[in-house]
Amino acid sequence: MTLTQGLFITIEGTEGMGKSTVIASLSEFLKEKGFDYLLTREPGGTEIAEKIRQVILAHYDETMQAETELLLYFAGRLQHVQTVVLPAKSAGKIVISDRFTDASFAYQGGGRQIPVEKIRLLEQHFINDLQPDLTLLLDAPIEVGLNRIASRGEKDRIEIENIAFFERVRESYHQRAREYPNRFRLIDAGGSVEEVQEKVHHIFNEFFSK
Ligand SMILES: Nc1ncnc2c1ncn2[C@@H]1O[C@H](COP(=O)(O)OP(=O)(O)OP(=O)(O)O)[C@@H](O)[C@H]1O
Ligand SMILES: [Mg+2]
Repeated sequence: MTLTQGLFITIEGTEGMGKSTVIASLSEFLKEKGFDYLLTREPGGTEIAEKIRQVILAHYDETMQAETELLLYFAGRLQHVQTVVLPAKSAGKIVISDRFTDASFAYQGGGRQIPVEKIRLLEQHFINDLQPDLTLLLDAPIEVGLNRIASRGEKDRIEIENIAFFERVRESYHQRAREYPNRFRLIDAGGSVEEVQEKVHHIFNEFFSK
């Protein structure tokens, strides 16, 4: 089934909260329902944006300036929006992105403490203020996510940040959810995979029944 108007859905949350797991289950769910959908991610989602992702996440001897990081995220985002998100949405697809601009407000705004106005400016000027139709925010205490990914191999440049950084990220995500209650759904991600899946499917059924 192809919708006449596409949808843009984003999945957000701190490290290891279960975004990829939820997206895999959503993929099955949408396939069963016969929807035409596309899974993508940020940073990344296009050949060029995936290269920018590598630049963002690599380790360096010098400190990456917080605003350099912010601009790199938006460079990748512009490329992703123009090359993948908007064309698929125009074609009537449900586009599901693992992270989007809310992550910049949370990580670069909250985490790195860059003034929100600067991020707003980039959002308005470079991605034409594109907003998701629906955002699922997977939420649980930071430690829950970090414990889930503790056994993973080498950490990237963001994952090595301290707890206080991630606490600020989580708080900024909460602020975003309060600011945009119409598109945000806050999901308790602390339960089992099945419990979280159940919640996500419920939200989708409700969303599509409107
Ligand atoms: N509800 C859950 N309960 C327990 N373990 C979970 C749950 N959801 C996911 N996991 C496991 O936790 C780990 C992290 O999950 P996942 O990779 O989906 O998180 P993520 O949010 O995509 O992480 P990242 O921020 O690194 O992209 C995986 O090993 C996954 O199998
Ligand atoms: Mg993931």
